[in-house]
Parts: sequence; structure tokens; C-alpha cells
Amino acid sequence: MQKTLRDYLQRILNARVYDVAVESPLERAAKLSARLSNHVWLKREDTQPVFSFKLRGAYNKMARLSSEELERGVVCASAGNHAQGVAFSARRLGCRTVIVMPVTTPKLKSDAVRALGGNVVLYGESYSDAHDHALELAESQQLVFVHPFDDPDVIAGQGTIGMEILRQHQHPIHSVFVAIGGGGLISGVAAYIKAVRPEINVVGVQMEDSDAMIRSVREGKRIKLDDVGLFSDGTAVKHVGEETFRLTRELVDDFVTVDSDSVCAAIKDAFEDTRSILEPAGAMGIAGMKKYVAQHQLTDETVVAITCGANMNFDRLRFVAERAEVGEEREALFVVTIPEERGSFKRLCEVIGHRSVTEFSYRMDNAEQAHVLVGLATTDRKEAEAIRSDLTDQGFASINLVDDELAKQHVRYMVGGRSHHSEDEQLYRFEFPERPGALMRFLSHMHPNWNISLFHYRNQGADYGRILVGIQVPKNDRDAFKDFISNLGYRCAEETQNPVYRLFLR
Ligand SMILES: Cc1ncc(COP(=O)(O)O)c(C=O)c1O
Repeated sequence: MQKTLRDYLQRILNARVYDVAVESPLERAAKLSARLSNHVWLKREDTQPVFSFKLRGAYNKMARLSSEELERGVVCASAGNHAQGVAFSARRLGCRTVIVMPVTTPKLKSDAVRALGGNVVLYGESYSDAHDHALELAESQQLVFVHPFDDPDVIAGQGTIGMEILRQHQHPIHSVFVAIGGGGLISGVAAYIKAVRPEINVVGVQMEDSDAMIRSVREGKRIKLDDVGLFSDGTAVKHVGEETFRLTRELVDDFVTVDSDSVCAAIKDAFEDTRSILEPAGAMGIAGMKKYVAQHQLTDETVVAITCGANMNFDRLRFVAERAEVGEEREALFVVTIPEERGSFKRLCEVIGHRSVTEFSYRMDNAEQAHVLVGLATTDRKEAEAIRSDLTDQGFASINLVDDELAKQHVRYMVGGRSHHSEDEQLYRFEFPERPGALMRFLSHMHPNWNISLFHYRNQGADYGRILVGIQVPKNDRDAFKDFISNLGYRCAEETQNPVYRLFLR
């Protein structure tokens, strides 16, 4: 029998979430408010113990199981936040959990689940494979399956967020913005709001390339997407739930789609107001709010966005992440030389196998050979050496670049920059103090006959700017050039003889 709004209101009011979840703050975002000319409030679900709202629904479901069911244990499938919610709840309830995660799940996330005591089973390439396997395990091991969204108890657990918002803000609210993946969060929040203060707009937010709910509502039936964008992994759902579809269709007033750029901007907005870093799904509410406010020319209204998660993959934070990854030797970088003939690229891919590729740059060099820059995620330095010996066994010459600053800092971003006009080019890596005028100082000290033939710089937010410069210096000017370098006083290293430079740029 279909559950009514009254049923959901009752379930939400009776939901058991506070054994594990906190009543998260509803905070005024001063900077966003000023910028949008509205009163912006953030419901800080990123401050929950597992950094997302997901433990509300999971715990409410699990706390209602019989002692006999808890004895048998639970199983779920998830690549992230739901897994942590279930593992956290299971620890509290003292029950066994099996958590099926796709083999592609970042180690960081599977480790987080293991640290909470979850038994992780890595299975399949995608969430759907993991989901099917979890259902098989539920059957074969008599475990209770805890759905990430399509379950009335899960929905009611998430609905407690709606209850808190209305209690925390008793003045008028124009709209509440909610990210949608499978629809559990918005179903619960909308159920409470529509039962209690139906005049408040509930607006669902989806990624442009992951909009299964919006399309389903538009077509009046659940549709299945073939592909979903993975930038916002928390909301990358191909097929929304039956119950969540029914509730969303019935209760949600409006929808808005957002793109990755606007979500990145929203992560920054949240950071500026709160000094916290949200994950993409966690910032979608803000991105949707900004778009909606502009589209509807709202001013002086009170608008609320649920910041629903902060399980950000650290490697997405560019400089810090890249350097931390390399520093921890989580990435190996190679230049591999392969014969320029049919099938050799495929052979190289076979050697790489299932390893996760972080980079792959290639440019035809000559008729006989191609040089490929390959970055691979690794667990430690030993693995890089093992990969290298696999390459050698297959007859590929390779250079392990893990200690090569030139390759890691610059050449990986410049592959294809070979010049046929760079006679007499001298190549130097410089460290400039990152302050105004440092570059001008360098350029103004340079002899006018010396042409800069290559230049690469990335602002990495560090105290020193790292620059790669190729300068054409005629042979009889070399002594003067050495003087120039030593007078300049910047730390530098000559790289003219570096084999990577010779392979890719010269
Ligand atoms: C951070 C975050 N935001 C939003 C969602 C979407 O929630 P739902 O699937 O209930 O729509 C999820 C789902 O895991 C999430 O982890």
C-alpha cells in the first residue's frame, strides 16, 4: 500500500537517528548572502560524524531491525558515503556488515569503511555490478540488504534534516535546495516540508550529465541512463528508486541542473564562508541555488542549501593533491618507447593491465618509434619497479621517472612541444620567489640576443614558482650566460642533457 504524507511525517518524527547523527547547524553564509542579495543559510550535513547525511537513513533502517536480523548481519553496495553510514551504524549496533564496493573504489574510501569495521568485498567494475553482487550475498548469507535510498526507513531518516531546518528557522523560507542522486534525501526532506510548511519551495538539483530523476519526472516514468558523469560521485545514479520517484514527482516543486564548473565555484563559495571543503555532491545545493536565484531574480528572500557531504577526494585539490600523491609515491610515471607499428599500443595497454592510469601522453616521433608518457597509480615505490620489469619483459624500453623533477613538474604537461627551430637551446629549471617582479627581474637581466624558446610555469600556490625555460644561447655566449645565471641568484638546475627533454622537447 502506498504510504501517505502523514505516514512519512510520522516516520520522520519517530526516526531514530540521534544515537549516531548530530543535529547539524543551520548557518548563515554571510558572503554568499551579500553576493546573491538574499539571505543564504547552509544546513551543514558535512559536519556529521562520517561527513555526510547518509548515516541518518542507514541508522534509522538498521535500528529498526529485529535482534534476530541484526544477528544475521546486513549487506549494502556503495562506492562511498552510504557504505560509511552503514559501517558506522553497524558498529554502534554491534552487527556484522558486508559492504560491496566496485573494484575501482579509491583505496581511501575502502580504507575508511574498513576502519569503521565494515567487511569490504571488492566486486565488479561499476556500482550496478556491486549492487547485484550485494543482493546475491543477501540471499546466500541471509543478510539484510540496506538500500542507499529506495526504502521508507532510509527516506524517513534523511527526512529528519527537513524537520531540523524548519525547527531551526522559524521565519519564512522561500526555497530549500537539495542534491539528488537516487532521491532518498529529497524525498525525506520534501515529505516533511510539504506536510508542515507546504508554502516552502523544494528544489531538486542534479548534474547535467547525471539527471536521471529530472528526466524521469519529465517523462512520467523511471528512465535508466546508459552513462552518468562521475565528477559528483555521490549523485552518479543511473536509475532512481521507485518510491523516491513517486515522492519526488509528487512533492518537489522545481528542478535545476548544474555543471561541473558551477559546482567547483560552489565548493569555493562554501569554503569562503565556512572554511570547509565540500565534495562535489555536497556543493550541488549551493550551485543550484545560485542558478535558481539568478533565473528567478530573487532578492531579499531566505534560501537554504543542504551541504550534504564533505568526503572529498584529496587528489582533486590540484597542487596539494598532485604533490602529496607524488610525495607519497602513489603515482609512478614512465616514459615508454614503443615501436611505431600496429598492435604495439595494445601490447603496452596489456602490460598496464588493470592498473589505474593517471596519465597517458603520446606523440608520434618518427617512423620507427613513439615515446609515451604513462602515469600509473601505485601503492609504493616497489610497485613502480615491478611495472618497469614487466615492461622490460615485454620488450619495451622505459625510464622510471619517479625521481625526475623535470618530468614530473614540467614535461608531463608539455609533451608535443618539440621544436625544429630551437638550435642552441639551453634548458634550465628555475625557482623564483613567488612575488611580484621576480619574473621581470629575470627577463630584464637577460642578454637581448638570447631568445626564450621554451617556457613553462604553473602557479602551485607555493612559496616558490617553478619555471622551466629554454633559452637559445649561441656557443660563444655560453660563458656570459653562466655569469648571468650566477648573478641572478635564483636556484636553478641545468637540464639540457636530461634524457626526457631530449625525447619530448628537442
Ligand atoms: C554527499 C551526497 N549528496 C547527495 C547524495 C544523494 O542522495 P540520494 O541518493 O538520497 O538522492 C548522496 C548519496 O550518496 C551523497 O553522498
